[in-house]
Amino acid sequence: MKTILANWKSNKTLEEGKKWLKQFNNLIRKNSLNFDNFRIILFPPLTHLAILHLLVDKYNLALKLGAQNISPFEEGAYTGEVSARSVVNLVNYVLIGHSERRKYFAETDKMVAQKVKMAVKYGLIPVICISNLNQVNYLITTDQLPITNFFILYEPLFAIGSGQPDNPENANKFAQRIKKIVGKKTQVLYGGSVTEENVISFLSKPEISGVGVGGASLDPYQFYKIIKNAQKIKKKN
Ligand code: PGA
Repeated sequence: MKTILANWKSNKTLEEGKKWLKQFNNLIRKNSLNFDNFRIILFPPLTHLAILHLLVDKYNLALKLGAQNISPFEEGAYTGEVSARSVVNLVNYVLIGHSERRKYFAETDKMVAQKVKMAVKYGLIPVICISNLNQVNYLITTDQLPITNFFILYEPLFAIGSGQPDNPENANKFAQRIKKIVGKKTQVLYGGSVTEENVISFLSKPEISGVGVGGASLDPYQFYKIIKNAQKIKKKN
């Protein structure tokens, strides 16, 4: 089973999000594309989740939803924060520690660990984003990684939004190094300038369990093509 994430980041109004989902659903139906052996997860802005959740149900789409972020705190007087508890009925997954959050919102390793803890407490599956091994080591040495049921999304900083993806061979080696630290069964995903053209080169690597897609997920046709191309690899895992 391979995993493909679509991270819209801070893009799209609710209306644009609804339109994307409708077009995506039409493409899937028209071309009879099924998601067998794939886990497809969409991370829209938090404000769109309630409506998109209803639409995914209505279309009967095998698409999972995720939150792009959660609060490191339980609940209470934390203005502007959205708690894990308040999204559990809408999503199964949550992105934690994306490099943009670390860079623009001063998220520290400690906050990332706290968010992972909250996710696990409320039954959300964390997709922990890292760009270097120190970030992984922090979680290990402070004993703050869940035992099972989480993903590590490796995104080298130079590759995010740059149109310059990492070399798939390097990404594979990096995934291997992560697994050496975290455990060989860990599902490591690669993200950074993934497109319909290069998706196979990453997914066909043995240590890479999936991809995270930012820019190329904003257009439903491009994202559909990514899934379609990905299905050309028939993998054992
Ligand atoms: P990108 O973003 O595909 O636009 O490079 C990836 C990400 O940040 O998840």
